[in-house]
Amino acid sequence: MTQDELKKMVAKAALEYVEVGTIVGVGTGSTANHFIDYLAGIKHKIDGTVASSEASAERLRSHGIPVLDLNEVDDISVYVDGADEATRHRHLIKGGGGALTREKIVAAVARRFVCIADETKLVDVLGAFPLPLEVIPMARSYIAREMVKLGGRPQWREGFVTDNGNHILDVHNLQITDPVALESELNQYAGMVTVGIFARRPADVLLLGTREGVKTI
Ligand code: 5RP
Repeated sequence: MTQDELKKMVAKAALEYVEVGTIVGVGTGSTANHFIDYLAGIKHKIDGTVASSEASAERLRSHGIPVLDLNEVDDISVYVDGADEATRHRHLIKGGGGALTREKIVAAVARRFVCIADETKLVDVLGAFPLPLEVIPMARSYIAREMVKLGGRPQWREGFVTDNGNHILDVHNLQITDPVALESELNQYAGMVTVGIFARRPADVLLLGTREGVKTI
């Protein structure tokens, strides 16, 4: 099975978590795209969606699935999204697609966060995947210098601007042994918008697409 087939398999499995007559939060990336395509098959059963990026909103609309502004919604039953890395504690690194801020907001609102990932994303310790940070553009160099002091090697994702008009730093070389503590610490820097560690609000369910089938963690 290819990695993309594993992504499709796990995206389909997430349909079981969709509650009839509710609003569904929808993530960003290739795994989330497969979920959107499957969601189209049951679109008449849900009241609408909230998207974590302009790209996902566009894909949802192309299927005729209503996309709502989060400010018009007071309840999201489930948020389904991928990850760049995941641990057995359901702590995640996200933001490879640069949508981490809206992803974190939708995850915060959702009653349940279902992470869908192929087995290559499962790690013991987060940090082999460079940690994405969304930063206010004028704070980029300052935060990069601070990351060097922590032993990281920050790289500016040059030419990329987030849906919120901000920049992304990808920080290499971090061994994230205490994700909750590091997320809290990095949140404190002036100009930091969002840290790509999702540990203070972890996923509630991790669905892993493996060659032996879908595993639930
Ligand atoms: C986007 C994300 C994605 O969930 C993450 O990058 C995984 O992407 P993919 O499903 O394409 O492997 O956090 O900001």
